[in-house]
Amino acid sequence: MMRSKIKETFEERFGSGGTLYTSPGRINLIGEHTDYNGGFVLPGAIDKAMYCVVKPNGKDKINACALDLNETSVFGTKEEDKPEAGWAKYIFGVVREMIKRGKSIPGFDIVISGDVPLGAGMSSSAALESAVGYALNDQFRLGFTRQELATIGQATEHHYVGVKCGIMDQFASCLGKEGALIRLDCRSLAYEYIPFHPKGYKLVLLNTCVTHELASSAYNKRRESCERVVEAIARKHPEVKLLRDANLNMLKEVEKEVSAEDYMRAEFVIEEIQRLLDTCEALKKDDYETVGRKMYETHEGLSKKYEVSCPELDFLNNKAKELGVTGSRVMGGGFGGCTINLVKENSADEFVKKTAEAYENKFGIRPKVYDVVIKDGAKRLD
Ligand code: GLA
Repeated sequence: MMRSKIKETFEERFGSGGTLYTSPGRINLIGEHTDYNGGFVLPGAIDKAMYCVVKPNGKDKINACALDLNETSVFGTKEEDKPEAGWAKYIFGVVREMIKRGKSIPGFDIVISGDVPLGAGMSSSAALESAVGYALNDQFRLGFTRQELATIGQATEHHYVGVKCGIMDQFASCLGKEGALIRLDCRSLAYEYIPFHPKGYKLVLLNTCVTHELASSAYNKRRESCERVVEAIARKHPEVKLLRDANLNMLKEVEKEVSAEDYMRAEFVIEEIQRLLDTCEALKKDDYETVGRKMYETHEGLSKKYEVSCPELDFLNNKAKELGVTGSRVMGGGFGGCTINLVKENSADEFVKKTAEAYENKFGIRPKVYDVVIKDGAKRLD
């Protein structure tokens, strides 16, 4: 459906001969706000994705159309050509970052569309950057690796969107693999695929359907807190370049030199990095009860120490706990979006039904529910 609609739209606007590409959104089992601290994450690409149809146009302009918004934008490839429309900045940013890496990008026509819910913590923007990056790399034979495409997407966020994000989302979107989570070391970018088939359990996302304002500036502030703590620790331990290199004892040593808030943020990150490692050990033993417990601990930390939760997410988390769900936590950057829940298969329906009802009674919104299916990363579809 999505595929035929986007191709049809491309043909109507730009004629035949466009090529269709896709790149998915992601989930993350555990390891939140650890990526920009050089820690580990455990994401997987999902069956919700962004799509683009692309064709070189022989000019020096990019003609872009966002199908779902019914908007168009025309812009060049020079730094001063930055488009107005928010969605077009992602395309422009990817082009600019490729040019900065020594490539020349001729003009092209492009239509974008997708079914990754926006603002739900499933990384629709990384999916878009990755789809566009993958498409241009293929169309113009640029020779970037998937890892480089992920870095280009991340740099787009930094320089053209204004979010100082880590590498997790773009990495998962570009390098995802069906049926597997990616255990990614965000300092070295070394990674390993961990097959994920939790027998007797399933992963369910519950979308609060709220996105709180200023999420991106709050996100950048969290990152700054972490950087200030690193600076303080590095004065005593010069080998510490990122919170990944620090431990709780080192943090304690600088307690008087950093604000209480920064302290709390760093404490969460150091604990979360360890939690991910513990979770990976539990996964090796198919010990999903421990995995679930770690997820609850993550939620607690994200809510109380990192302060990126909100009443709606806390409500869903509490409800899961009350109903005996194995694991539950806010997923992604926070401030709205989804909880990710590890639920016993035979009680999943009841959990979803009861929780959705209770949430609707309390907040007047019906939460959206998604079963998680882990899929491959970016690819060409025709
Ligand atoms: C957002 C960012 C990621 C990561 C998560 C939190 O999704 O884009 O880089 O920091 O938040 O784990």
